[in-house]
Formats: sequence, C-alpha cells, structure tokens
Amino acid sequence: MIVAVDGPTASGKGTIARALAAHFGLPVLDTGLLYRAVGYQTQLDHGDPDDADDALAACDFPDSLLNDPALRYESTGSLASRVSIHPAVRAALFQRQVDFANQPGGAVLDGRDIGTVIAPHADAKLFVTATPEERARRRHAEMLGRGVEVTYDAVLADIHARDARDTGRTDAPLRRAADALLLDNTTLDRDAGIMAAIAFVEDKVGKR
Ligand code: DC
Repeated sequence: MIVAVDGPTASGKGTIARALAAHFGLPVLDTGLLYRAVGYQTQLDHGDPDDADDALAACDFPDSLLNDPALRYESTGSLASRVSIHPAVRAALFQRQVDFANQPGGAVLDGRDIGTVIAPHADAKLFVTATPEERARRRHAEMLGRGVEVTYDAVLADIHARDARDTGRTDAPLRRAADALLLDNTTLDRDAGIMAAIAFVEDKVGKR
C-alpha cells in the first residue's frame, strides 16, 4: 500500500506521515529532506540556488548529508524551496522517490507532489493543511522551544513566501490531487489529526 501525504510547510504533514507509517508498519520518506540536501549542498559549493546548473550539480550530494542537523534549519527550507523550482532538479530526484514509493510492501511519502507526480497511483492520498497564521504560530512556538530567536511576523512572512513559491512554480506545483482527502489541521490537535488520517487510510484500503 502506498500512502501519499502532501501539504504546505508547517502543516503537520510530516507528523501525520510518520504516525501513519508507524501505525501501518510501513517505511516513510520525507521527500522535503532531499530538496533540503540539494539546497544545502548548493550553499556548501558556493553555488546560486536560483541557478539551475548550480542546483543540478548539488543533486550529487552524499547520502550522509541527509543526517546533517543543518537540513532542519529554516534557512535550509528556503534554499530547498528555491532549488525545487528547477525542473532539472526535480527530474534528478524523481527516480529515487518513485523507487521508494514502489518498494515491495509499500511506503508512506510526504512532500508537495507525491499524490500528483511521484505516486499518482497511491492507494490513499492526504492533503494536510492549516491556515498560514496557525502554521506560523506552531512553527514560531517550536522554534522558540529550540532556542531560536525569531518573531512571529518573520515566521509568517517566510510561510507566505514559501507557499507562493511552492504553489506558483510551473513544474509539479503544490496542489491537492483531486482524489486526496483534505485534512485541515487548523483546529485539530496533533492526536485528532493523526486519528483522522488513520481512519481515512483504513477506510480507503480496508482494515489491515
Ligand atoms: O517539506 P519541507 O518543508 O522540508 O520542504 C522544503 C522545500 O522542498 C519545499 O518548500 C519545496 C520543496 N519540496 C518539493 O518541491 N517537493 C517535495 N516533494 C518536497 C519538498
């Protein structure tokens, strides 16, 4: 069984994808990490993330980079969003994601284009979202908890910028697949969101 979880930044899609994977005993891939690795490698190479050739060269990042804590930085998320615009970068990362999705036994993947491009044949698709203000509130609280000094307004501005870039690009923009469940997390707490996701997937594929 393949489960696709898409949605904008800070929507809680990663939490839901990991919970679904644990519940159904499936491996999970956070595809945003791949784009983050490309963005970060571009920076390490002193390249320009807005230049397609520089970003493509960074797609050869070493696998060990995927464990680097720097990939979690907000600044790396912005770099990821910038390199992800280039069709050549998306093409370079395509097969790795498709292979993960199609491995025997199935998988859960979260990202922006899983239900539309990487696994359009997924058994269950979810589009997880929340208002920009609520996503900013959660991201801000999480960053303060990690000791990162940042204002709510700066976080909200970054979320708006990322949404605009991720939904506005020509190649594989962020959008809900027609057959994806819209899971609006705005007023749900963590457990309620997870339970709604599990119930939807069970309903789609039959209880296992
Ligand atoms: O999910 P995330 O915040 O880690 O993703 C970082 C950026 O990577 C996101 O702003 C756009 C890009 N991305 C993408 O284009 N396609 C994906 N499947 C996952 C992420």
